[in-house]
Amino acid sequence: MTALKTLIIIALVGYVYGLDKACPFKPADIIFVLDGSGSEGAQNFKRQLHFVSNFTQQFEIGPNNTRVGLVTFGTGVHNEFFLNQYNDNSSVLNHIDNANYPDGETNTHLALNFVRQQTLSSAHGGDRDASKIVIVLTDGESLSPNLTVAAAAALKSDPKVTVISVGIGSKVNPDELLAIASDRNHTFRVSDFDALSTIEADLTTETCNVCNDQSDICFVLDSSGSEGASNFHHQLEFVNMVANEFSYEGNTHTQVCVVTFSTSSHTDIPLARYHTLDALTENVLKVPYRDGETRTDLGIVSAFNQLQQRHHGHFPAARDFANKVMIVLTDGRSTEPDLTKSQAHRAQSKGIDMFAIGIGSNVDPRELDTIASDHDHVFRVTNFKQLDSIHQSVVSAICAKSLKATTTTTTTTTTTTTTLPPTTTKAACGLKPADIVFVLDSSDSEGAENFRTEVEFVRNFAAQFHIGPGNVQFSVVTYSTDVRNEFFFNQYHNRNGVLHAIDNIQYMGLGTNTSGALNFARTESLLPANGARANSTKYVIVITDGRSDDPDATKQEAQLLHTKAEVISIGIGPRVDKTELANIASNHRVVTVDSFTLLKTIKNQLTDLACQSDEPLVF
Ligand SMILES: *[C@@H]1O[C@H](CO)[C@@H](O)[C@H](O)[C@H]1NC(C)=O
Ligand SMILES: *[C@@H]1O[C@H](CO)[C@@H](O)[C@H](O)[C@H]1NC(C)=O
Ligand SMILES: *[C@@H]1O[C@H](CO)[C@@H](O)[C@H](O)[C@H]1NC(C)=O
Ligand SMILES: *[C@@H]1O[C@H](CO)[C@@H](O)[C@H](O)[C@H]1NC(C)=O
Ligand SMILES: *[C@@H]1O[C@H](CO)[C@@H](O)[C@H](O)[C@H]1NC(C)=O
Ligand SMILES: *[C@@H]1O[C@H](CO)[C@@H](O)[C@H](O)[C@H]1NC(C)=O
Ligand SMILES: *[C@@H]1O[C@H](CO)[C@@H](O)[C@H](O)[C@H]1NC(C)=O
Repeated sequence: MTALKTLIIIALVGYVYGLDKACPFKPADIIFVLDGSGSEGAQNFKRQLHFVSNFTQQFEIGPNNTRVGLVTFGTGVHNEFFLNQYNDNSSVLNHIDNANYPDGETNTHLALNFVRQQTLSSAHGGDRDASKIVIVLTDGESLSPNLTVAAAAALKSDPKVTVISVGIGSKVNPDELLAIASDRNHTFRVSDFDALSTIEADLTTETCNVCNDQSDICFVLDSSGSEGASNFHHQLEFVNMVANEFSYEGNTHTQVCVVTFSTSSHTDIPLARYHTLDALTENVLKVPYRDGETRTDLGIVSAFNQLQQRHHGHFPAARDFANKVMIVLTDGRSTEPDLTKSQAHRAQSKGIDMFAIGIGSNVDPRELDTIASDHDHVFRVTNFKQLDSIHQSVVSAICAKSLKATTTTTTTTTTTTTTLPPTTTKAACGLKPADIVFVLDSSDSEGAENFRTEVEFVRNFAAQFHIGPGNVQFSVVTYSTDVRNEFFFNQYHNRNGVLHAIDNIQYMGLGTNTSGALNFARTESLLPANGARANSTKYVIVITDGRSDDPDATKQEAQLLHTKAEVISIGIGPRVDKTELANIASNHRVVTVDSFTLLKTIKNQLTDLACQSDEPLVF
């Protein structure tokens, strides 16, 4: 498919289905820095502006929402508008369209310095408490590479700032792109100006820095005598800085709890007590300093209880599906090192993602290592004030976990997870992307709530992937008596679109027409006309909790389907018919779990099947 066709299709999809607003719960300040040097010509400069305009349209623009600024450069730097200059989408879009082509040399450093000194200054509204995303587009090498490197370093030294570089065409210098960007994952390259639209979805993901999984996060704060009240206060500010990076509304909302420890431990803020960022941060600052010993172990126990507990008084607490995170801060050695170690291990063994943050020189690095899930989860700062310098890294580590499959599966003793037979799929896949159809039982035997759990599972599964025509594609079919197409492969071209569509799936409730659904998957979902690719590995994942209305027809349809795709059947709960599951699956790919809530324990097994590539995308 040519870049232009992709572009048109993406534009059409956006038009027909309406792109969801990109970072609905977490506004950002986005500053575009556009290369307008002589090498590209006015026509290509216009293409950049179109891209910026399309990108901007995904966001809710406003003084309390996402704000946009635009800087262009050639020989000199030109401010088109500051972040606080226009308050609504139409004036922002209007001024993007009318930006002037600067022409001249490629003085990238001037633009980067301008962003740091002017656009981000309080005088121009750049000091709002929001993440600052600077997106630099360029088609060539800068005139003064050393100055560019220095200007980029100065810009990135602000922990709130993330710099994304986008190189267009073959004349860009990859080393310079890397030097400009915050890290390798924030660099993009496209072959030409027309291909810009192909990176829109990934750029959006990086811009929003979204964690698509919901997280339950417990902070465990050191309130012992060694630190004093003002240092304790820095810990509270750290909690708020991290909390600020998550959303508290919608399907992927985060829940936070705060536990403190000294001679004993206190659950100062139970999980799910506050449902807005404002209420949370206000109450975090009220958590009292207590003084005393360093019973880190007791703090870990209290946080553990919060993360495991289903209810706390009136509050629904930990959620089975959530990514569970415990962040332990300390400035010293614990009074009971052995207990600290064993409690940390217990939490790790339950799949809680454990972070250890050591402050100052009195911490025991080995103890931090025993608390944390792995060495990448250990952070150290020299004093309390420096905590703010690591908050972005901590957030990235939490998000990385929730965006990617974890390497260890946490299977509890109540699961009977049949391990999938070893397959050659992963190796055989290589560069082959996967086309995955989910076929979901929406019959009355499950009930609406279990169906929700099933849908949530599919959502969390899909959220791990780069989704799109060049990556993994998803399609969903639901069925009870009727068969319903939720969406085909070619309906949504990015992760946001797919997740949004999954969120909109409705429960039907009635019969169990499994054969009809398998027939539909074969004769519709897997058709090239509906987006299935010739070069992909095809999977159909059938999730059911019962027995189909017509087992013979189901078996027949399954056999036909096996010639088109690898079929995995997942049976949930006591009512499943194991013979039928075996009939549905190809190559004995049967997985059973005891209950709907345990579905998530098999996420990683499935992920291995789908050939996720961690390579940065280059088009
Ligand atoms: C922007 O979107 C419009 C239509 O919505 C489309 O015609 C145009 O090609 C897109 N441009 C880019 C650069 O994405
Ligand atoms: C933005 O928020 C402030 C303070 O919460 C409020 O006073 C103001 O009306 C809001 N502005 C808009 C345009 O919603
Ligand atoms: C601006 O946003 C409003 C509300 O979301 C929407 O109705 C309108 O179409 C948008 N205008 C443009 C030019 O995108
Ligand atoms: C740029 O930096 C490199 C490496 O630090 C140095 O060798 C080179 O002389 C510098 N070039 C200029 C023009 O300053
Ligand atoms: C880039 O992303 C990969 C895969 O998600 C991750 O393993 C790696 O740590 C990231 N690199 C940086 C520098 O953040
Ligand atoms: C697979 O085919 C699709 C179009 O059908 C194309 O966009 C994609 O780049 C191809 N992937 C590979 C790895 O060849
Ligand atoms: C099952 O679904 C198929 C395909 O939609 C349909 O033709 C058939 O009538 C359904 N069977 C029953 C018993 O409703």
